[in-house]
Amino acid sequence: MSNKKRILATRRLPDAVEARLARDYAAKTNADDRLYDGESLIRAAADADGVFATATEAFPAAVIARLPASVRILGTLSAGTDHIDLAAARARGLVVTSTPDVLSEAVADVAMLLLLAAARRAHEGEALVRSGAWRGWAPTQLLGRELNGHRLGILGMGRIGRALARRAQGFGLKVHYHNRRRLAPELEHGAHYLADPDSLLAVSEFLSLTCPSNAETRGFLDARRIARLPEGAVVVNVSRGDLVVDDALIAALQSGRLAGAGLDVFDGEPDIDPRYRALDNVFLLPHIGSATEQTRTAMGSLVLDGFDAFFAGDEVANRVA
Ligand code: DGY
Repeated sequence: MSNKKRILATRRLPDAVEARLARDYAAKTNADDRLYDGESLIRAAADADGVFATATEAFPAAVIARLPASVRILGTLSAGTDHIDLAAARARGLVVTSTPDVLSEAVADVAMLLLLAAARRAHEGEALVRSGAWRGWAPTQLLGRELNGHRLGILGMGRIGRALARRAQGFGLKVHYHNRRRLAPELEHGAHYLADPDSLLAVSEFLSLTCPSNAETRGFLDARRIARLPEGAVVVNVSRGDLVVDDALIAALQSGRLAGAGLDVFDGEPDIDPRYRALDNVFLLPHIGSATEQTRTAMGSLVLDGFDAFFAGDEVANRVA
């Protein structure tokens, strides 16, 4: 009998990652890519030594407490860990790893895509061409907002925020940011720090949410904070949907108080608030921030590196619990 460690992989993974998983572990994979809920996850993890998870499975305390005792490590293919109760994992002695860093450039690309698409009314333009209703160029057709010379506020200047700042500066945006701590000058790249998030909002003609979702940031963008943004501002979110209060954002987009929004993440996704679909001034993507072959393979490799180190009794990198 093989003495390979047993790993439950909760989702389909890039080919190179599944190949390495199959080579080095006794892997239970998910060829149908079906979603596990808490109960089916607990059942599927029977006898597993580790779980290779993603942000689509929730690990609240109640699930962590009932994971089979054989499961000693949980590696999540995500930088975000808001789907895992880390305190419960620590209390149970479950090691948890995540995949930061390797996705920063890919996610920053999508933040830039959302900024441009929302500013330049890409959804309306595309729909016009696809529908066959386009009657040709016109001087006043689909006038959007220009990035060059305007101010971008970045909430959360971690690695993704900084990768976005570099791109945005290339588009002529003046970058302001708020972070729990001010960055060292060499990491700021000329971006202007604002110690108070409300002051950031007041200057943000464009606002990007790039901070993690946690007790402090959940519900951050509510009606009060939207009211602080300049008239006609554009908001983008590549972090987590629950940073935004949907009622408030939708009302501001409907009234024109905000010119547009670009969203890659949604509260309760994939069951998004249906009112978003009816809005022309919002550009919607299905949580593809890190979705390149290169990045998802790098993320998968990090999860597997964590398993390799853990089962060899070595120090585990990217450990969050
Ligand atoms: C992340 O890495 O957190 C991405 O949003 C995928 O879940």
